[in-house]
Amino acid sequence: MLEIDHVTAGYGTLTALRDISVALEPGARLGVFGHNGAGKTTLLRCIVGAHAASAGSVRFNGEPIPPGRVPETVRRGLAFVPQGHNVFPNLSVERNLRVSGLLFDQSFIKEVLKVFPVLDERRAQRAGSMSGGEQQMLALGMALMTQPKWLLLDEPSTGLAPVIVRNVMAQMRKVNESFGTGLIVVEQNVPATLKLVDQALILKSGKAVFQGEAGELSAKPDLWEWF
Ligand SMILES: Nc1ncnc2c1ncn2[C@@H]1O[C@H](COP(=O)(O)OP(=O)(O)OP(=O)(O)O)[C@@H](O)[C@H]1O
Ligand SMILES: [Mg+2]
Repeated sequence: MLEIDHVTAGYGTLTALRDISVALEPGARLGVFGHNGAGKTTLLRCIVGAHAASAGSVRFNGEPIPPGRVPETVRRGLAFVPQGHNVFPNLSVERNLRVSGLLFDQSFIKEVLKVFPVLDERRAQRAGSMSGGEQQMLALGMALMTQPKWLLLDEPSTGLAPVIVRNVMAQMRKVNESFGTGLIVVEQNVPATLKLVDQALILKSGKAVFQGEAGELSAKPDLWEWF
């Protein structure tokens, strides 16, 4: 269970996140939405302990996630794929995967390549020469090499063509189904993400303005009014 308990966070005098609480069962899929500056990235950073909350706490299986100890948190099973390209461009696809899994079971690469056959075909290719969508897939694969219980993704579909977005969403679903990995996905592409997730959170100026079932949000005729 991953519990975000009354988390408030900011930068100096700016409050970026106000009193956010979310409780997620193992394998759950949460979509986090909101305009630029709404606090989405800050929330992900607080969950992995890359940013210290000013109030509240995050617990994973009942144990707190302390701020400032991200590598330890990754070893406990939380993987974070930040915004933008997160591959080592000059290394091959296979090297990228192996480097990410250095502290973990290297033989897991077989499972990752099974989920992403494209990466298997391209294992010798220099990562920097892959397309945007392929690099995003590689970033997902790299995060998987740590065999996470939770995968936190910051805008994984940004800059990708619609057909590639559908592909990336399908890969995330596959990861969730194959390994039971929970997903927390920050996205600007709300309709595509609502097909993937089962729960949704909309942030506005750091506050939760909607929190509930993804289906309930998709059914709202005034969906955009919430932003
Ligand atoms: N390192 C920082 N120092 C100061 N202010 C910051 C810092 N990081 C974020 N902020 C501010 O905190 C607020 C929330 O930022 P955050 O990055 O969480 O938003 P976001 O919802 O991820 O936005 P986007 O969709 O543009 O990525 C914004 O007002 C932003 O300017
Ligand atoms: Mg952001």
